[in-house]
Amino acid sequence: MSQPNSNAVNANAIHTDALPGHPFVAYQGASLHVEGVALSALAAQHGTPLFVYSKASMLAALAAYQRGFAGRDAQICYAMKANSSLGVLQVFARAGCGFDIVSGGELERVLAAGGQAAKIIFSGVGKTRHEMRQALQAGIGCFNVESEAELDVLSEVAMSLGLRAPVSIRVNPNVDPKTHPYISTGLKGNKFGVAHEDALRIYQHAASLAGLRVVGIDCHIGSQITEVTPYLDAMDRVLDLVAGIEASGIVLAHIDFGGGLGINYNGDTPPAADDLWAQLLAKLDARGYGRKKLMIEPGRSLVGNAGVCLTEVVYVKPGEQKNFCIIDAAMNDLPRPAMYQAFHAIVPLEQPSGARTQVVYDVVGPVCESGDWIGRDRTLAVQAGDQLAVLSAGAYCMSMASNYNTRGRAAELLVDGDKVHLIRERESSADQMRHERLVQA
Ligand code: LLP
Repeated sequence: MSQPNSNAVNANAIHTDALPGHPFVAYQGASLHVEGVALSALAAQHGTPLFVYSKASMLAALAAYQRGFAGRDAQICYAMKANSSLGVLQVFARAGCGFDIVSGGELERVLAAGGQAAKIIFSGVGKTRHEMRQALQAGIGCFNVESEAELDVLSEVAMSLGLRAPVSIRVNPNVDPKTHPYISTGLKGNKFGVAHEDALRIYQHAASLAGLRVVGIDCHIGSQITEVTPYLDAMDRVLDLVAGIEASGIVLAHIDFGGGLGINYNGDTPPAADDLWAQLLAKLDARGYGRKKLMIEPGRSLVGNAGVCLTEVVYVKPGEQKNFCIIDAAMNDLPRPAMYQAFHAIVPLEQPSGARTQVVYDVVGPVCESGDWIGRDRTLAVQAGDQLAVLSAGAYCMSMASNYNTRGRAAELLVDGDKVHLIRERESSADQMRHERLVQA
């Protein structure tokens, strides 16, 4: 077998002290665990690919925000696009969270999981009349409106129901979040929000519409942000606007600073949520807005490191230029590498006991696309039948999963201490074909 870049070392040398997801995702001896549960046992019982989430990790991530906001009037709205599985939503609903939604479908999920409508905020640039009606009838807390046209339509829809829609306008602070271009949203040239210089005029327009009740202002500058400065800059820009809007006689009951805080994928060192908010609240206080109600919309930072995706090595395929480690999870389960060249750590469920040869592999899935890779140039000591975990897979993996190549979506488990709950069954081919019809002619 040709093995470029290979060298014989003891695979126990894998550096595992602080894996992404630590301490909830950690080796106990040679076996990778989520909380108190060995993952190889879960893979054997439920098959692969399989998502496993740590409830304690989610609650610890939430607690960091709650500590940051202690003593403040603040509402944490989990941005459920990061992971919208009912069992995950239920964890946050029971912990008292609100939710940031972007579709009528997400609204139905929150309500099905026991979330309170009054704590829902509805973001997104393309809300339809139907979705507006659905959300108004449910009694959601706030619409985060992204354009002037949307204001007019929302006012009309609310009046047709004899209601007034609570609105906040998403302003685009034109701050560079220093993240991947596909996940930065607060720059001029992004489709999101209204331009800073148009905000006051658009607020005055909103205040004049009979079907609306202006309640707040919001911004969101991007995702996987690992520095504090873009947040501080965005806060300054938003507070400048708050001053101008309130001077014009429009009272803003809340300020929503969006989500965006990054997680550790590959040695990334984002600030802890409580440290970030200590700095942001200091600025808010210094500028005299410390008593306003605060809202935030974190997604990834609440769930990203809480999840792993278990997968099995199907084949090892050596090659002249590259060695391939072909696994049973693919871009339909884990779309982030294909979409954003994203890095996810990949580690074995069981560290091999003897000396094994380490080889540099591209870890790829079975989908018929060259873009179907999960990790590039990874040093692994693997053979067919071994099981691996793709780490930091709690956010934007299952929620972005597809059925491409008629692959059923994976099952999901929620671990709580040493208890394991199946929160989603593996999707069958029959499930996938259920709504399709042959032409009867
Ligand atoms: N609020 C708004 C208005 C958003 O657009 C987003 C994310 C969030 C909150 C939550 O942001 P987070 O705290 O999760 O960073 N699929 C991409 C990420 C897309 C983020 C879209 N908006 C990825 O896998 O990296």
